[in-house]
Amino acid sequence: MAADLLFICAQFDITAATAQGLSTLTLQLADKDLNPPVLLAPMAGITDRPFRDLVMRFGAGMVVSEMVASQEMVQAKPGVRERAELSADVENTAVQLAGREAHWMAEAARQVADRGARVIDINMGCPAKKVTNGYSGSALLKTPDHALTLIEAVVEAVDVPVTLKTRLGWDDALLNAPDVARRAQEAGIRMVTIHGRTRCQFYKGQADWNAIRAVKEAVSIPVIANGDIVDTGTARTALDQSGADGVMVGRGAQGKPWLLAQICHDLYGAAAPDIPTGDDLIDMMCAHYQAMLVFYGSDLGLRVARKHLGWYMDEAGTSPALRRAVLTSRDTDEVLRLLGDALSADAEVAA
Ligand SMILES: Cc1cc2nc3c(=O)[nH]c(=O)nc-3n(C[C@H](O)[C@H](O)[C@H](O)COP(=O)(O)O)c2cc1C
Repeated sequence: MAADLLFICAQFDITAATAQGLSTLTLQLADKDLNPPVLLAPMAGITDRPFRDLVMRFGAGMVVSEMVASQEMVQAKPGVRERAELSADVENTAVQLAGREAHWMAEAARQVADRGARVIDINMGCPAKKVTNGYSGSALLKTPDHALTLIEAVVEAVDVPVTLKTRLGWDDALLNAPDVARRAQEAGIRMVTIHGRTRCQFYKGQADWNAIRAVKEAVSIPVIANGDIVDTGTARTALDQSGADGVMVGRGAQGKPWLLAQICHDLYGAAAPDIPTGDDLIDMMCAHYQAMLVFYGSDLGLRVARKHLGWYMDEAGTSPALRRAVLTSRDTDEVLRLLGDALSADAEVAA
């Protein structure tokens, strides 16, 4: 399959961004440039190496790995180190660590830095019960003093910039992101991303981009706005309302790996992404599918790939019968054949 079709490079035109009046084209993260400041969010089970590579080939400022559990990483539990694997674009990949003990966090940070990570992100936002019950992820918002010990241990352990991703607070009664961000900055954190919801909101309701402004006003390090940014319009509104220095996009990129590049183009004057259609789209999807099979091996790859294929087919409006056939087949070659059919058939319907 035409894997080289994946190598769709975005060229960035600095003057165009200035012409659009955006104050920040290049975001400075320690001595790194995040150019443009449009980042792919970490998403467990989704932003694996094949997906990050694909997003980066269209164009983005930085991509973040899935959350990597620090203790499991150090203990080399099966499948954990793969999550920390850097993208093809090593320079612009952050590896995200989660945990609740300074010792494991620091050791994991050392290991991922030794493996070449240029940025390490600390997860203080995951709302999942199995994470917060272990007092990591967003539960750390309830114990900021303890959170600070993790942050200090990681910053101390590595020379690369350490960033933090968190939420507005635990719940409406504890909206402490500004304070946590300020203390994190004092401890050496170089950038903070805020998902504009509390932990107790999980993913419900609408992200509150206005509330991110309080964090922006509390710190001098770059602040990234996250939550419900699904296109250029929402990216622009999120930046306006929060005053943030950049945006992070998660679910909006599912089935649309070019979305970040599109936002980079619309807001910062990067070259327009070559959004694939017709045969090019089929080639791109098949190449992504094959990259997942190579990365995970056929058995696991077949299963992991299903959610991505589902999103691609949702975008394309594939018929329910074909969708079901693609998502239930256990034969990787058949999936490839069906994928072509699924999208060609839709192309005809759409024509
Ligand atoms: C399936 C899924 C997995 C996620 N995994 C992580 C994770 O590993 N680390 C993290 O910090 N946030 C994680 N998140 C949160 C996202 O990074 C992001 O903050 C959230 O989805 C809001 O952004 P969005 O509306 O652009 O998706 C995850 C979200 C989803 C939907």
